[in-house]
Amino acid sequence: MAVLITGGAGYIGSHTCIELLNVGYEIIVVDNFSNSKPEALKRVSELTRKYFKTYCLDLQNREGLEKIFTDNKIEAVIHLAGLKAVGESVHFPLKYYENNINSTVTLCEVMKKFEVKNLVFSSSATVYGATETVPISENTPLGATNPYGRTKQMIEGILEDLYESDHNWSIALLRYFNPVGAHVSGRIGEDPSGVPNNLMPYISQVAVGKLETLKVFGDNYSTVDGTGVRDYIHVVDLAKGHVKALEKMLISKGVESYNLGTGQGYSVLEVIAAFEKASGKTISYSIVERRPGDVGICYADASKAKKELGWVTCKGLDEMCQDSWRWQQNNPHGYNVETKLLIRS
Ligand code: UD1
Repeated sequence: MAVLITGGAGYIGSHTCIELLNVGYEIIVVDNFSNSKPEALKRVSELTRKYFKTYCLDLQNREGLEKIFTDNKIEAVIHLAGLKAVGESVHFPLKYYENNINSTVTLCEVMKKFEVKNLVFSSSATVYGATETVPISENTPLGATNPYGRTKQMIEGILEDLYESDHNWSIALLRYFNPVGAHVSGRIGEDPSGVPNNLMPYISQVAVGKLETLKVFGDNYSTVDGTGVRDYIHVVDLAKGHVKALEKMLISKGVESYNLGTGQGYSVLEVIAAFEKASGKTISYSIVERRPGDVGICYADASKAKKELGWVTCKGLDEMCQDSWRWQQNNPHGYNVETKLLIRS
C-alpha cells in the first residue's frame, strides 16, 4: 500500500517525502512541476536511498489521476499541490480559485471512486487572517484576507462537507505557520522563483550576495522591537507533522484541523540577528513602510497537535537559520540543473 503525495516535488513536499520514506512508507509522487523541479525528487531518492514512482500530471486531469489509482494500491493521500503566492493571487484570483479548488475537488472525486478516504490536506495559518488575540488556537474564527488564503479556507469547508456526507472519511487539515529552514544535508530546500516574498529566503539571498538590502516592513507594531512577529517552524519538523497526521488518519475517522507551529514568535530583527550568528555575515537592512495586509503578531497554540497527534517541534531558530544558510550556500541558484529522472505521464 502506498501514500500518494500531490505536490511532492515542492519545498514542503520534498521534505515530507524524505520523512515518510525514512519511516518506511511506500510513496508515489504526482506533481505538474509548475513551481518545482524534478531535481528535488532525485535528491530525495539519493538521500533516502529509496526509489519511488513519480508522475508528471496536473490534478485536474481526471483520467490521468484515475489511471494512477488503477495502477497502484493507494491507501492515503497527502495533498500539497497548489498555487501559493499571496501577491499573485490578488492579481489573478480566478487562476487561484480555478486551480486550487478544482484540483482538490477532482482529487476527492477520484479518491471517493476508488474508496480511498484518508486525506492529509496542506492548509495554512493564513486562514485565520488578522486575529484579535494570540496565541491562535484552532477555535479562532477564520477570516482569510486574500484569494490564496480564501482558497485554503474554502477547501477546508469543502472537506468538512465531504466528511459530513460520509463519515468513513478521515481528514486532517494542517494549518502551517511560517515554514523555514532546509534539510540538514543542504541538498533539499526552498527554491523560490524570482525575488522571494518571504523573509527567510530573502535574508539568505542577502547573505549570499544575490540581493543587496532587506526591506523590513514596519517597526511600529506593538511587538518586542516594533517589527512583525511570526511563528517560524523548521520544515523538517513540519514534514514530521505530516507523518504524525497520516498515522492518525489511518486509524481513526473524522475531520480535524491542526496548527503546526512552534508556539514561539520571533520578530524580524530577532530573525536577522539569528541569521547573522548562523552565517557569520552581516545582513544589510532598512526599515520601510508596513507591507499592506500584514499583521503585527502571529503565533500558534500548537497544543492540539501535541495532544492528539503526539507531535512537537524539536528545532529552534538557530537551527532554522543554520540549515537555511547551508542550503543557500550550497545551492546559490537553487535546483538549477537539468535532471534525468524517469517521470511518468
Ligand atoms: C506569508 C503569507 C502567508 C503564507 C506565508 C508562508 C502574506 C501576507 N502572507 O506570511 O499567506 O502562508 O508567507 O510562509 O504574504 N518581512 C519583511 N521583509 C521582507 C519579507 C517579510 O520585513 O522582505 C516581514 C513581514 O512583514 C513579516 C515577517 O517578515 O512580519 C514574515 O513575512 P513572510 O515571510 O512574508 O511571512 P508572512 O507574511 O507571515
